[in-house]
Amino acid sequence: MDTQTTVAASSSSAKTVGAIILVGAPGSGKGTQAKRIAEVLEIPHLSTGDLLRQNVSRGTELGRQAKQIMERGELVSDELVFGMVADRIKLPDCVSGCIFDGFPRTVGQAEWLDRHLNGRFVDDKQQPLAPIVIQLTVEYNSLWQRLTGRRSCPTCGRIYNIYLQPPRVAGVCDVDGAALETRRDDREEVIKERLKAYEMQTLPLVDYYRRRGRLLEVNGDLRPDGVTAEALKAIEHGHRL
Ligand code: AP5
Ligand code: MG
Repeated sequence: MDTQTTVAASSSSAKTVGAIILVGAPGSGKGTQAKRIAEVLEIPHLSTGDLLRQNVSRGTELGRQAKQIMERGELVSDELVFGMVADRIKLPDCVSGCIFDGFPRTVGQAEWLDRHLNGRFVDDKQQPLAPIVIQLTVEYNSLWQRLTGRRSCPTCGRIYNIYLQPPRVAGVCDVDGAALETRRDDREEVIKERLKAYEMQTLPLVDYYRRRGRLLEVNGDLRPDGVTAEALKAIEHGHRL
């Protein structure tokens, strides 16, 4: 039985997975991998970037406040993000766990999440399950090609890349035939700001989790299938820690 099958089998026996956190630079593959891992482990994918973009396109008050900040490539305030995450993890589909993509992305957000999740997920012996944190490491130079070439499906959320993972028909989603879109923050000047925000505000988070013995590194430069297999192995290992 391969790693994917093993983890899928263990998750389908209603095991609590707990919180899985993906940390990585813009373009490191958090969204791509979170979707795949969520499917295997049968837990929801919680992307703060996607939730914010949905709010922007629905024109909610939260979206109105976040829009310009996101278009500058800066981080949205904790106040907005905490409320949104708290509402999402209250939903019943998060009962056995969820996979966070893009949250937390500052030490303050990690401290909030630790307080918020305290005792929420427990193992078979009723012991609290600490979050498992996977850092996707990717060569700085490939991030640029990944971000400028990214296209996404507005309907199903599937992520493509015109250079690296093109759809079968240019500009069209393989799954549902919708016209693919380019994210507004994938413009060169905004990408620079997002990479800066990652270095200044998110990299300290890696140390926060490393010091607590919770950080597991995965080589995000592999092909997507290889990254998924490595991430699933890391999650199994994280559960044994
Ligand atoms: P967010 O949506 O989280 O964006 P990000 O962190 O910049 O990350 P990306 O979504 O750009 O990249 P990804 O790692 O998901 O890569 P992907 O899988 O798409 O946040 C956007 C904004 O929202 C922030 O700037 C901020 O303003 C706000 N925000 C969000 N969360 C916040 C928070 N917690 N606090 C405050 N503000 C917040 O892959 C990228 C490309 O690479 C794709 O084209 C893909 O096809 C390709 N690719 C993926 N994997 C591989 C591979 N293995 N090999 C080759 N190509 C690959
Ligand atoms: Mg993403």
